[in-house]
Order: sequence, then structure tokens, then C-alpha cells
Amino acid sequence: MPSVQTPSRVAIVGGGGHVGLPLGLVLCDLGHHVTLIDSAPQRLREIGEGRMPFYEKGGEALLAQCLASGRLHSTTEGRRVSDQEIVIVTIGTPVDEYLDPNIREFDRTIEAVLQEMRPGQLLMIRSTVFPGVTDRLQRRAAERGLAIDVCYCPERIAQGYAIDELTKLPQLVAGCTPDAQERAEQFFGGMGIRCIPLKPVEAELAKLFTNSYRYINFAISNQFYMIADSYGADFHRVYRAVTDDYPRMNGFAKSGFAGGPCLLKDTMQLASFNHNLLTLGHHAMMVNEGLPSFLVSRLKESRELSGATVGILGMAFKGNSDDPRSSLSYKLRKVLTLECREVLCTDPFIQDPTFVTLETAIERSDVLILGACHSEYRQIRTDKPVVDVFGFLGRTACHES
Ligand SMILES: NC(=O)c1ccc[n+]([C@@H]2O[C@H](COP(=O)([O-])OP(=O)(O)OC[C@H]3O[C@@H](n4cnc5c(N)ncnc54)[C@H](O)[C@@H]3O)[C@@H](O)[C@H]2O)c1
Repeated sequence: MPSVQTPSRVAIVGGGGHVGLPLGLVLCDLGHHVTLIDSAPQRLREIGEGRMPFYEKGGEALLAQCLASGRLHSTTEGRRVSDQEIVIVTIGTPVDEYLDPNIREFDRTIEAVLQEMRPGQLLMIRSTVFPGVTDRLQRRAAERGLAIDVCYCPERIAQGYAIDELTKLPQLVAGCTPDAQERAEQFFGGMGIRCIPLKPVEAELAKLFTNSYRYINFAISNQFYMIADSYGADFHRVYRAVTDDYPRMNGFAKSGFAGGPCLLKDTMQLASFNHNLLTLGHHAMMVNEGLPSFLVSRLKESRELSGATVGILGMAFKGNSDDPRSSLSYKLRKVLTLECREVLCTDPFIQDPTFVTLETAIERSDVLILGACHSEYRQIRTDKPVVDVFGFLGRTACHES
């Protein structure tokens, strides 16, 4: 990658995470001096030893390069924020048990960050936040007489592919003031990234709209899958037929599990922001979260499950990922556990002593259900029935749906 002309000292709060670490590596590779600040010492230890704590395409090689450059540092000490020109926040922003944003933890971290900041620094929020949070943060800084620039620049990468995508995607940039806007645009522009200016609340909504749109889109296909399946039609044949040389269906999503740490969470953030009025979002949740139960109910119609062993192929929330967060394969396991004699789980990317190998899962199961589209599953050859809601295995495995 080409180097930036004016390298900055950048701290990333949450720098050991799925968003923070790839960002830190790319910034470091471009010539910036990067300090990863993270409250998880084990993650930082692994990073310091040259191991990625999670799968990221090209991550390990780039990490080695960054460590060798001497420009990548890591620490658990929040006070290191004060040595930097730019502070980027990438900590998690989960929803609570009532599906409302868990603002308290985010606020606590931001409060600690503000305490260490000096006048003249740029504070960039990159976590996905509740609309209004960025402007509120600017007011909090101003109230305490802290003259910093505040902006919101949401992360929009596909998890696992950040290193590829970070400099290719246009960046939404929203400064709370013209100075903040200019500095943020200079920062990304200096890396050759095209900036799209917005107001903070617009950028906050843009990020939530993107994830809610994708979540709702998956629900449309999942509902259609359930309809087709209930009436003896093959959804994937219908899918191929309606998308074949017919541009108006280009946006038609594939059916499959819509889990993971972002899509449902951000749809619920948007609902919460709009006083719980997001009918499409709530219906999408019922469809997507109901898919594992639907698959099990359909299976029960065709076979006696109480004496059966069922294998789940893939426990990560998506294909070729090692991330189990909010994966619907775990929900599937829970539903199956109540119905079957035994449930076997396998995943090549996730270390779990209760999982079995792929060979064991195939050999010992009476029926298999695809939970995540890992590439290696394309090679599966078995005469056991395989439930494939994703339509991923093509004709290489026998289907039961
Ligand atoms: N994962 C994605 O693909 C993705 C994509 C776009 C946006 N986002 C958003 O980015 C944010 C982060 O998501 P993530 O998947 O990277 O989460 P993550 O859990 O992988 O990373 C968060 C990191 O922050 C650290 N942390 C938590 N509290 C801290 C504190 N007080 N001080 C320092 N470090 C702290 C954690 O130890 C962790 O390493 C969320 O708002 C998410 O919605 C995620």
C-alpha cells in the first residue's frame, strides 16, 4: 500500500477487536503510528506475539509486517490516549436483554477517554452508535471546556475482509463542526479513500439503515423459503429462475441464517431510536430468529427425531468465519437438543471441546443440517440427507428440506 504523506499518532480504543485491529493494521501499514488500547490483556498478548485473535483475511502477514515496522504498539492503559493526535473508538455497542442499546458501558468508556484527552485532538467514533450520540459527545466535551474535534465515521466492512475493503469502500464522514469535518476528510483522503460528507445524525442513521436493510432483506428471502418449502417447492430453484437475466431481482438475498453481532442488534437500535416503531424490523426478527425452529419442525414431519442423531455443519455466524457471536447455529442446537437423541456440532474454525470432527459428524449423524457455509463443505460427499437452507451445497449433497 502507498504511504500517507503526513503520518499521525493514532490510538484505537477497542483496538484488539474485529473492527479496531484490522483498522489499526491498515493505518500502520500506511505509515501511521498506531497504539491499540484494549481492556482485554490476553488479546493484546496474542497480537504482540504475532497471532491474530480471530480470523481476518491477510491479517497474520500484515500483523507481522506492522510489528516489524516498530509503528504498532498496544496497551491496556487508557491514559495513552493523551499522547495521540487522533483517537478512534471501536468498542462494542450491544443491546441489552430488552433489545435497547446498552448505553451505560459506552458512556463509561467515553467518559474515561474524555478525561485523558487534550485540546486540539480529533476524537473519531467508529462503533455503530445510537443516533444523537456523536452530537451529545461534542456537547459533553464543550461543557467541560475541552476544545477537541469530534466526528462520526462508521465502519462498513464485511467482518473478516476489512484489510481488503478498508481502503476501497467510500467513507461516510460526519464532523460535529466544520473543523472536525475537514480533519476527518483529510485523514481518510490522505489514504486515498473517497469521503461522503453527512451530518452526524445522518451518518448514524446511514449505518443503522444499512444493517437494518440487510437484515430485513434476508427476512424476505427466509419467509419466501418457508413458504416454498411448506408447499413442496424448491426455493433455490425458484431463486435461480427469478434472478436469471432479470435485473429487477438483483437485490434478492439468498435464504439462510441471518445471525452475527451486528444485523439484529442494529435493527433493534433503530427500532429503539424510533420509539419501538419499526414494524418491518420486528417482523424480520421473528422470521430470521424463527428459521432454526422452522427447519426442525419440517424435519419432524418427515422423520422421527426422538431416536435420531443430528449433525450441525458450521457453528460460526457466517461462512469461513471463526466468530460464534449470535450465531443461529447455537439456537438450532438448542431446539434440536429438546427433540433429538443426540446433537453433534462441528466447525473447522472454532475450538470447542464439545465439537466433533466433520468426519465424525457425517458418520454418526442420521441427518445433517448446514449451519454455516464454510468453503470446505463444498467437498462433502455423503448419501446422508442434508438440510441446506442456504442452497450452498448445490447438487453435491442430497437435500432434505
Ligand atoms: N464486527 C463487524 O464486522 C462490524 C462492522 C461494522 C461495525 N461494527 C461495530 O463496531 C463496534 C465494535 O464491534 P466489534 O465486532 O469489533 O467488537 P469486538 O467485541 O470484536 O471488539 C471490541 C473490543 O473493544 C474492547 N473493549 C471493550 N471495552 C473497552 C474499554 N472500555 N476500553 C478498551 N477496550 C475495550 C474489547 O476487549 C474488544 O477487543 C460495534 O459497535 C459494532 O456494531 C462491527
